[in-house]
Amino acid sequence: MKNFKRYTVTAALPYANGPKHIGHLAGAYIPSDVYVRYLRSAGKDVLFVCGSDEHGTAIPNQALKENTTSQAIIDKYHKLIYDCFKKLGIAFDIYHRTSEQIHHETSQEIFLTLYNKGLLTEEVSEQYYDDEANVFLADRYIVGTCPKCGNPNAYGDQCEKCGSTLSPRELINPKSTLTGKAPVLRETKHWYLPLQNYEGWLQEWILKEHADDWKANVYGQCKSWIDAGLQARAMTRDLDWGIKVPLPDAEGKVLYVWFDAPIGYVSATRAFFQEITSGKIKYAQPQREFKNAKADDWKTYWQDPETKLVHFIGKDNIVFHCIIFPIILKAHGEFILPDNVPANEFMNLEGDKMSTSRGWSIEMHEYIEDFPDKPDVLRYCLLANLPESKDSEFTWKDFQSRNNNELVAILGNFINRALVLTQKYFDNKVPARGTLQPVDEEVIRALKEHPRTIAASIEQYRFREATAGLMDLARLGNKYLAETEPWKVYKTDPARVGTILNIALQIAANLAIVGEVFLPFSAKKINAMLNLETKGWSDAGSDALLNPTHPLGAAALLFEKIEDDVIAKQLQKLHDKKKSMEPVTVDVAPLKPEVTFDDFSKLDIRVGKVLAAEKMEKSNKLLKLTIDTGVDKRTVLSGIAQHFSPEEMIGKQVTLIANLAPRKMMGIESQGMVLMAEDADGKLKLLQPSEAVFPGSVVS
Ligand code: 2FM
Ligand code: ZN
Repeated sequence: MKNFKRYTVTAALPYANGPKHIGHLAGAYIPSDVYVRYLRSAGKDVLFVCGSDEHGTAIPNQALKENTTSQAIIDKYHKLIYDCFKKLGIAFDIYHRTSEQIHHETSQEIFLTLYNKGLLTEEVSEQYYDDEANVFLADRYIVGTCPKCGNPNAYGDQCEKCGSTLSPRELINPKSTLTGKAPVLRETKHWYLPLQNYEGWLQEWILKEHADDWKANVYGQCKSWIDAGLQARAMTRDLDWGIKVPLPDAEGKVLYVWFDAPIGYVSATRAFFQEITSGKIKYAQPQREFKNAKADDWKTYWQDPETKLVHFIGKDNIVFHCIIFPIILKAHGEFILPDNVPANEFMNLEGDKMSTSRGWSIEMHEYIEDFPDKPDVLRYCLLANLPESKDSEFTWKDFQSRNNNELVAILGNFINRALVLTQKYFDNKVPARGTLQPVDEEVIRALKEHPRTIAASIEQYRFREATAGLMDLARLGNKYLAETEPWKVYKTDPARVGTILNIALQIAANLAIVGEVFLPFSAKKINAMLNLETKGWSDAGSDALLNPTHPLGAAALLFEKIEDDVIAKQLQKLHDKKKSMEPVTVDVAPLKPEVTFDDFSKLDIRVGKVLAAEKMEKSNKLLKLTIDTGVDKRTVLSGIAQHFSPEEMIGKQVTLIANLAPRKMMGIESQGMVLMAEDADGKLKLLQPSEAVFPGSVVS
């Protein structure tokens, strides 16, 4: 294996269009954080970059849904997502944003380099255009009938009813969501990256050179893409949100979001060195010392072949990080290529696919709100179940059992026993070690071995295995105490107990070093209990981390048991959330038989104004309304008493049938009928003009 001088590690830039759930954490962020924490602990030169992906149609779509601007959306979710990452201990050196100027410039520079090298092709194609709004319509801005299932509200890219992937041209009766008008086809020019020209190179680079070191799921997906044959892909879009195409004849066009997003890693690196060298910190949070850094150092992290570039992503991003972005980097010519892309599969939740929009998810901020003091429990539970080779599953029961049976019963219990016994027998000071017995030599040998195997697992991106290694180290400590029984031996041989506890405390100190990579908050607590400075991976395996007489800190519980009712509450919450987001299905009344226009025009429908309203005695349904119809003032009885109070009806505009034959009810003649719409839940709503009109206005 090649020895690299430094590492650039990236984690997929999340779209700043909504909160992110724990499946995202398991896909890219927890594994990358563990990898980087390990490298940092081992003293490597590593830079960990991430940030918000703030372009693409996902952003204006969300703005539409939340009835606000795209800028407001990215500001809101950038903050929400980054705050969550911080609270969960994901320690990026920089969390940047693709809306920043430096990113726009970097993306435009790279686009222009490809353009000037003649590596982009220009193609004119027909696309849907809204000639009232005067814009080309992105797929999500076109709705129509799904050709597969007949759903009348399918989008230009997908039918949410049957799940089919669609293209706008497949929709039956397409309509623009902006104006409701049928869109027209109009020619538009775009710049394409001819992926097919790089097929031979990809065969060599991925299929041959990375046949052994890329994960099977990643390699397999790349192979099927390459085997199926690649096609030119447009690198520009007609959209008013994004990075402007830096060409004179590209008015109204922006770079394709998947062109600019991965370049976000480069611009984040650029911003990082600019910020730490100028002292003007906006997004950088260096997690180690970057000695003698220069603004130009971003180049060594992206252009020096002695830098190892690793992209952490979820499986839906594989083609972009393994095929399209590497082609862009290769075509540009000055960049290194990823050494590995250890993409994970998906994590399901309680037997179903995780999905924010369907409400079947645990969002990062929801977890943090409910378990503010337990970031490591989530980290551990996700790490133990990472979808490394196939989809995996999060269940609240498993969360409880990992916490109670592993974190509390194994790791927490061992640390607690080692400390409490030392407190009891040795005045809370590390005891000296005497002659070693075979059981001691055996545990010291195993102690040395553990960090080595854990490191090997991490270096091969096997984080589940590495996490199991951490728990095994704690198991080793428990087994040692169970075998040596210091609490029994103390009466007869206190010096022997000193040896045992000295070794147990060395194991505890090792758990702090190794644990820092996986469970940083708990490792910090262990260090505080041991009264020890954080040590690095080069010390891991040592049985001499604590000197005799070293005073320990106060013992505290590392983890606490999670009771059944807490888990039941979470399950209930999950089901309630899903229910609240299910579209309400309404039994719509069937159409009545056809009437002629003449029949219809016999009705005199008018807008009137309620002058007075009172409850009818002996009726809980009827209100007696006095209505100004423009032609007269009359009494109308209306069955709305359970929906409106008399007070709230006064002054309201209503629509009424004014020439309906009068009808007597409870001794009073009703001269007309007020029109209502009945909602899905049976509630009545008044039918009113969108703006106030004169009483007597005719409805036609
Ligand atoms: O799938 C996503 O959430 C994308 N925003 C990931 C982008 S990764 C990189 F290319 F920026
Ligand atoms: Zn459909």
